[in-house]
Amino acid sequence: MSTIQDDDRLHYVTRAADLKPGDRAVIECAGREVGVFNVDGTFYAVGNYCPHMGGPCAEGLVTGMFDADEAGNVSFERDGEILCCPWHGWQFDIETGDHLGHSKKRLLAFDVVLEDGDVYVRV
Ligand code: FES
Repeated sequence: MSTIQDDDRLHYVTRAADLKPGDRAVIECAGREVGVFNVDGTFYAVGNYCPHMGGPCAEGLVTGMFDADEAGNVSFERDGEILCCPWHGWQFDIETGDHLGHSKKRLLAFDVVLEDGDVYVRV
């Protein structure tokens, strides 16, 4: 049976209890900066490097997105699930790293592992 110690790609982030819903931690591991987010109790990790011009995307505003139905009614949805790059405003899905409007642009996304109340990211 493999353990956390056997996986040299896993890097400790923090105690899960110390990263509350809506919080983030930006850490450096394996030569990368990675942002780890708690979105309503689920943890996600994306690279802190924007595919536009290299901005520190994981340090940007966490927000939601506007959507409109066929009748033109606008609603604000997915609050806390969208990451906005602080340099020029590109927006990404925290869960997947995907850009909201450009299918070929995305942030690197990393697995998050929880064990014994600790949060690890696989880089
Ligand atoms: S560097 Fe991120 S939007 Fe331009």
